[in-house]
Amino acid sequence: MTKLNHFDRFKERFDIEDPAFAEQFEDVLEYLVAKCPVAHSEVGRGYHVVNRYQDVRRCATDWRTFSSADGWLLNPPEGNLPILPEDLDPPYHTAWRQVLNPFFSPGAMANLERSAQQYASELVDRFAPRGTCEFVAEFAAQLPGLILFRHILPVPVDDLPVLFQDIDTYSFGPVDQRAAAFGRVRAYLEQFLEARRQAPAHGDLVDVLLAGVKRDGEPCVWEDKVHTTLDIVFGGLATTTHAIAGALYELATKPDVRQAIFKDPACLATAVEETVRLHAPVVAVGRTARADVEVGGVEVKTGERVALNYAAASRDPEVCANPRKFDVHREEVVHTAFGVGPHRCIGEHLARLEIRISIEEFLRKIPDFELEPDTGPQFESGQLRTMKNLRLRWSV
Ligand code: HEM
Repeated sequence: MTKLNHFDRFKERFDIEDPAFAEQFEDVLEYLVAKCPVAHSEVGRGYHVVNRYQDVRRCATDWRTFSSADGWLLNPPEGNLPILPEDLDPPYHTAWRQVLNPFFSPGAMANLERSAQQYASELVDRFAPRGTCEFVAEFAAQLPGLILFRHILPVPVDDLPVLFQDIDTYSFGPVDQRAAAFGRVRAYLEQFLEARRQAPAHGDLVDVLLAGVKRDGEPCVWEDKVHTTLDIVFGGLATTTHAIAGALYELATKPDVRQAIFKDPACLATAVEETVRLHAPVVAVGRTARADVEVGGVEVKTGERVALNYAAASRDPEVCANPRKFDVHREEVVHTAFGVGPHRCIGEHLARLEIRISIEEFLRKIPDFELEPDTGPQFESGQLRTMKNLRLRWSV
């Protein structure tokens, strides 16, 4: 059987939770982009999978035809909770983005630089003298939460491990445990908001979440404030860990990339963008067609579900030559890793800051390192993807 026949099943019987997809991630994405602009899944309600860059861009931008209101999950578990503004369409979506965006602007992120550097440096100091670390648990899973909770959404940092675990179960755990795990995160955040509602205003993001926005001219309901807080914590904790681990994997396995970054700071910025392109935590998101429409030569009917395969589109050779290569010399890095259109990631500048500082601080203290022999990264994959384990070593 040839390689292509082996992958043909992904055309008609795609399953984003298929362990074979998780294991042969790069190969399957490459196959889909090359051979199958729109794949089909029969799992649950079924869905179309849009794979090429231009098609993904078009669908993600045309929110009237491809609505987010039925949720980002392709097959939500029983009892699933909405996250806002992700699961909304304009104009209500726009109202939330207008009040939230300032807390995630490039300027707001620049103010976090020094603190982020300090946290990253302290984390590296804990394991640097040992000559070895499990990078995901000891660094990548820690830094995003420290920054988010200490500087943007002041949830007690001591509660980070429990929240992180529940968000991980929601994203990758057994299907029958997902809704309950996310429900615990929601209950925790509701209690947090309740406590802040009784306290004087702090002039921070929580005040803005508590104030809410208008929906059809009326103040929005309490639930929506809780579910918007939920989206920010989910987005902040479930994503950048994977990208940071991806960056360090590339550096561990490519001494030439490390050298390029030492020599030319411009390569660092490109390394961050290549990291996001190739180690994006969001693989695909769901939409619902609100009209009969043709995409990539396939007819999509009103009411059918569509997956925008951002991970595949970021590897489309139409916009990115030699897409598998982690290339810090690219003139321009084109990708869809942060999404496109109204739902484009609110945390993109925060994510870039976290990835860049992780690279800088690690290389400053440990310039030469490699993977532990006989180990490689292990992944979990569904609509999100994450690295579970990355063992590194260096001389001390
Ligand atoms: C490398 C890191 C990250 C990647 C690749 C990423 C990716 C994405 C993508 C693809 C979307 C769009 C979903 C869609 O089209 O429906 C999105 C939305 C979102 N992201 Fe991120 N994200 C990252 C980090 C973060 C961080 C650090 C936060 C923290 C606050 C965050 C919060 C959100 C929120 C709240 C949304 C919903 C935006 C909306 O619906 O308007 N993300 N992200």
